Amino acid sequence: MKLPFSNKSIPGLIGIDISSSAVKMIELDQDESHRYKIAHYAIESLPRDAVVDGNIIQLDIVIDAVRRGLRRIGSRTKLAALAMPSAAVITKKILAPAELGEDDLEIQVETEATQYIPFPLDEINLDFQIIGPSAGNPDELEILIAASRKEKIEDRVAIAEGAGIRPTIMDVEQYALQASCSEIRKAWSKEVTAETIALVDIGATLSHLIVLHKDEIVYTREQAFGGDLLTQEIASRYEMSLEEAELAKKHNDLPSDYDIEIFEPFRETLVQEILRLLQFFYSSTHFNKVDHIILAGGGCLLQDLSKKVMEATGVITELANPFTLMTTGPKIKASQFQQDAPMLLVACGLALRKFHP
Ligand SMILES: Nc1ncnc2c1ncn2[C@@H]1O[C@H](COP(=O)(O)OP(=O)(O)OP(=O)(O)O)[C@@H](O)[C@H]1O
Ligand SMILES: [Mg+2]
Repeated sequence: MKLPFSNKSIPGLIGIDISSSAVKMIELDQDESHRYKIAHYAIESLPRDAVVDGNIIQLDIVIDAVRRGLRRIGSRTKLAALAMPSAAVITKKILAPAELGEDDLEIQVETEATQYIPFPLDEINLDFQIIGPSAGNPDELEILIAASRKEKIEDRVAIAEGAGIRPTIMDVEQYALQASCSEIRKAWSKEVTAETIALVDIGATLSHLIVLHKDEIVYTREQAFGGDLLTQEIASRYEMSLEEAELAKKHNDLPSDYDIEIFEPFRETLVQEILRLLQFFYSSTHFNKVDHIILAGGGCLLQDLSKKVMEATGVITELANPFTLMTTGPKIKASQFQQDAPMLLVACGLALRKFHP
C-alpha cells in the first residue's frame, strides 16, 4: 500500500494570501496516488484600506477576516504559510566558499547582506537558502539571501496568531507565484517547450510581471495598475459608491453603454499596460521574446482578455489555473472555484509548501 503523505510534508498547513482585496486561503491534501486535492478554500473580502500595497493598515479587520475564513471552511488546521509582498523583500544571490561550516556561512551571509541591504541588521529578518554548487566554480556555493524589515513580518505573524494559528512558513509572493506556475506547466502537453514564460498578475491595485526562464525567475517588475481602476471609473460614470460599482462590475449588471464606453477602452488600456511591462523586460535584459504568457489575478477576469493579449503580442496567452490536475474535495463548488482560480495563485503556491517545506 502507498502511503498518502510523504513523511516530509507538514500536516495541517494552510496557505493564506493577505492581499488588498481579500484574504484568500487554500488547504491542499494528497490522495493515494499523490495527486493534489483541494480540501478547503475561502476568499474573505477586505474593506478598502485594510491592506494597502502589501502594508497591513487595519490589523484587527484582517485578523477577523482570517478567523471568518477558517471558521467557514471548518478546517482543524493550526499551521499557516504566509507570504510577504515581493516589494518588501530584498533578495540577492551570493557565492560563498563550499567548505564553510554552518556558523561561518551565517557570518558570511551577514557580512554580504550589509552591502546590499539599506537597513541596520537589527531591524531586519535575514534568511538564506543554499541553492547548490555554483555553475562556474564547484568550490563555491550559490546562496539565496532574503531580507525584510522586521515590522512587516511581525504584522503577518500577529495576524496569524490573532486568528489562532501558528505561522510556520513565511514565503515571498513571487516564489509562491513561481510554485503555482510550475503546476500550470505540468498540465501542458509534452510538446509545449516554452522556455521563457511571462506571468502577469493583475491584482486590485498592483500589476506584477514575473518572467521565468527554464523555471528560474529572471525578471520581476511591479506597476501601480489594477482592477480597482475599472471600479473607480464605473463609480464615477454611473454615480455609484465604490462598493456598488464593484458588485455591478463582477455581475456585469451595468447600463447598455458600459461595454463600448468603459469596458472596451479599459481592456485596451490593460493590454497596453501588459505590453509596456514586457517592453521593460526586453529593454533591461538580453531577452527579446517570451514563449508563453499566463494571466493571473482578478484584474484579468475581463471577457476575451487573453485573446486580446494574444493578438497584441503574438504570443500564446492563457488564463492561469494551477488546479487543472488537482481533484476537489466534497466541500468545493466546482463552478465557483473555476472562476476564482486565477485569483488564487499566491494562496496555492503557499498551500503547496505543505509538501515542499
Ligand atoms: N469577475 C470579475 N470581473 C472583473 N473584475 C474582477 C472580478 N473578480 C474580481 N475582480 C477584480 O479583481 C481585483 C482583485 O483581484 P485579486 O484578488 O487578484 O487582487 P489582490 O490580490 O487582492 O490585489 P493586489 O495584488 O493588488 O494586492 C479587484 O479589482 C476586483 O474588482
Ligand atoms: Mg494579488
